[in-house]
Amino acid sequence: MARLLLLGGTAEALELARSTAGDPGLHTVTSLAGRTRRPAEIPGEVRVGGFGGAEGLARHLQEQAIDLLVDATHPFAVVMARNAAQACHDTGVPRLKLLRPAWRPAPGDLWLEAADAAAAAAGLSGLGGRFFLTTGLRDIAAFAGLEDPWFLVRLIDRPEAALPLARHDLILARGPFAEAAEVALMRGHRIEALIAKNSGGYSTYAKIAAARRLGLPVVMIRRPKAPAGEMAETVDQVLAWIAARTGRGGPS
Ligand SMILES: NC(=O)c1ccc[n+]([C@@H]2O[C@H](COP(=O)([O-])OP(=O)(O)OC[C@H]3O[C@@H](n4cnc5c(N)ncnc54)[C@H](OP(=O)(O)O)[C@@H]3O)[C@@H](O)[C@H]2O)c1
Repeated sequence: MARLLLLGGTAEALELARSTAGDPGLHTVTSLAGRTRRPAEIPGEVRVGGFGGAEGLARHLQEQAIDLLVDATHPFAVVMARNAAQACHDTGVPRLKLLRPAWRPAPGDLWLEAADAAAAAAGLSGLGGRFFLTTGLRDIAAFAGLEDPWFLVRLIDRPEAALPLARHDLILARGPFAEAAEVALMRGHRIEALIAKNSGGYSTYAKIAAARRLGLPVVMIRRPKAPAGEMAETVDQVLAWIAARTGRGGPS
């Protein structure tokens, strides 16, 4: 039986775990960083926590006799992606990166692209004073030095420490989100601009569509570059890659 290590933390990784669960020729282990407190129910084996860098992951691949690695982490989880590339290079374990397509501006969108969270924070002047900040906890520190703006922050889990923002409200919610609810939320808080990462995918796209509907600008943080190597954009492409690598043809 082939052993697959699936680096997760995304909706696509969950879909892959579900799709491979009944496969008698494949043992799938989903790996999570352990950042969220209520991870969704994942079929198959699940391990939680870091590996200890690229070297730790290389050791893990060997000790666990992993045959294939699918990196289905979030497009912004670049440290993990680089470590996976390095560890697979060093051990010869085949690796596929699942990278959902980035969002592209549609007619009516008012996007201001930023290279990273710091650049996004530096570019807020002139966009009003009330922002919907949806970057996730790690990037909030980039907005800490700003005294004037007010932020509506949305996170999945309540943070352990107070947010380092002078003026803000916090809401807790997990996607997927609906466009009508996002429009109501932004209207209700008199939001003047949305700050988002270009995550791609369906689960959090509603806020982008809502900003378009409301005619609001979006400060869009560009994706970091993924390491070179084999890439897939969809779960079906990953399943076909696994099938080909395990000598069992593609999905029907
Ligand atoms: N970044 C985002 O915006 C975002 C959004 C949604 C979901 N996520 C998910 O949240 C997790 C953490 O993201 P991040 O941006 O903090 O990652 P990151 O900065 O790329 O990774 C930091 C460290 O966290 C550990 N790690 C990350 N993903 C892991 C996984 N799937 N299994 C085991 N260890 C993992 C690794 O520790 P060691 O070096 O010790 O191995 C890695 O070096 C990922 O699983 C990602 O898919 C991230």
